[in-house]
Amino acid sequence: MKAIVLYDSVFGNTRQIAQSIADALASRADVELLLPTEADPDGLAGSDLLVVGSPTRGFRPTEPLAAVLKHLGSRSLEGKRVAAFDTRLKADEIDSAGVRFIVRTGGYAAKRIADQLRRAGGTLILPPEGFFVEDTEGPLKEGELGRAAAWASMLLDAK
Ligand SMILES: Cc1cc2nc3c(=O)[nH]c(=O)nc-3n(C[C@H](O)[C@H](O)[C@H](O)COP(=O)(O)O)c2cc1C
Repeated sequence: MKAIVLYDSVFGNTRQIAQSIADALASRADVELLLPTEADPDGLAGSDLLVVGSPTRGFRPTEPLAAVLKHLGSRSLEGKRVAAFDTRLKADEIDSAGVRFIVRTGGYAAKRIADQLRRAGGTLILPPEGFFVEDTEGPLKEGELGRAAAWASMLLDAK
C-alpha cells in the first residue's frame, strides 16, 4: 500500500505530528511525507491512502496547503481513502472569553481539509482530527505525538 502524508507547518508542530503519523503508517505502507511545495495535485491521486494536515490559521489550513487542495480535480480522489488532521489551540484554555468564542465558532482546518478531499471524490475513513499545542508556537501538548501515532494505526485498520 502506498500512503502520502501531505502537510504544512509554520512553527514545526504540525511537522512533528505529520512525522509521527508517517512513522506509524510505515509499519504497513510505503510512505511519502510531502510539503505543499513538493506535492503535485495529480500525483496525490497515486496513493491508496492520502492523509492531509495543517496548522489551523484563522480557522483554515495555510494558504500553500489550501492552494494544492484547490487544484485537485473534482473526481481525482475517487476510490481513494483519505483523512485530515490539524494542530490547534485548546479553546477552553484561551484566557479571553471573546477569543475563546471566536475560535470555537470559527472551526478548524481539519474539517475544511476533509470537505475538500471529499469534494475531490475521496472516502473519509475517520473523522477529522485535531492535535493540541500549548501556545501559538508550540510546543505540542504532552502525549500528542503518541496520540498521532495511534490515530495513524487506526487509519491502517479503518475500512
Ligand atoms: C495567524 C494565526 C492564526 C491562528 N488561528 C488559529 C485558529 O483559528 N484556531 C486555533 O485553534 N489556533 C489558531 N492558531 C494557532 C495555530 O493553530 C498554531 O500556531 C499551530 O497549531 C502551530 O502549528 P505549526 O507549528 O505547525 O505552525 C493561529 C496561529 C496564528 C499564528
